[in-house]
Amino acid sequence: MKVVKTVAEVQQLLAIPLSNKEVVGFAPTMGALHSGHIALVKRARKECDAVAVSIFVNPTQFNDKNDLARYPRTLDADVQLLQAAGCDVVFAPEVEEIYPTPDTRVFDFGMLDKVMEGERRPGHFNGVGQVVSRLFDIVKPTRAYFGEKDFQQLAIVRELVHQLRYKVEIVPCPIVREADGLAMSSRNTLLTPEQRAAAPLIAKTLFTAVDMVCETDLATLKKFVVDQIEGNQLLKLEYFDVVNTKTLQPVYSLDNEGSKQACIAVQAGKIRLIDNMRIS
Ligand code: PAJ
Repeated sequence: MKVVKTVAEVQQLLAIPLSNKEVVGFAPTMGALHSGHIALVKRARKECDAVAVSIFVNPTQFNDKNDLARYPRTLDADVQLLQAAGCDVVFAPEVEEIYPTPDTRVFDFGMLDKVMEGERRPGHFNGVGQVVSRLFDIVKPTRAYFGEKDFQQLAIVRELVHQLRYKVEIVPCPIVREADGLAMSSRNTLLTPEQRAAAPLIAKTLFTAVDMVCETDLATLKKFVVDQIEGNQLLKLEYFDVVNTKTLQPVYSLDNEGSKQACIAVQAGKIRLIDNMRIS
């Protein structure tokens, strides 16, 4: 496995596989890797000839500068995990390498970023669009692996690929959870022991809500979720929405046609935690 910091190096390493029409799998990350990230890499390893992973804490997607400053950075441990997972190329650039000049592009994602994370984190998905497009331009992957943990991000990336006509195939991967149900996240390490002990309530509540769907209405379901989360002093509900899986727009009845996703964001102190589950 090679660890490189420059665009020239990563392109040199991938030039031969790409010119041989080999399948290049790519998983973009911000590092502080856990088993959720590693599941993407292992899947890419199974399905592709060459596997590249980027580790880049992208400043343009952080609307909260404190969040950017406190984001965990664990490059040495990340490299070891990636080596064990069978990664071929790790691209860990500095900010100037990705943005030699400021990226001023403004994307129009329609209604996709007007809800949930996009509504509460202004500019976040524009920054995700910028960095994912830069990374796709550099790596030129055949397949790119993204986690369903960031359900809205997945929809944004698909839209980006459509708008910019990238030839990459987007591969969605299921959420990996801790034994107690908490969705794995790099930010989990920032929780205090008390907050960490409270956090599994988020997934537990979602699992119960999904089970309740057949026998209840949306208002009752929402009240149940609010009561559960707000019942714990350490957690504050930011939103709970049931949305159409494709359009991400909130549904107004659980009887609505089409597949639906229950999406939640919770604040534990200064740390935001998100999760989602499919409602059939
Ligand atoms: P990051 O949060 O590091 O996540 C990198 C990838 O890992 C994303 O596709 C995310 O959905 C996936 N992932 C994270 N936790 C997961 C879990 N518990 N189960 C399954 N997949 C999980 O998402 C980003 O970075 C950035 O926005 C990025 C796309 C790299 C652009 O900067």
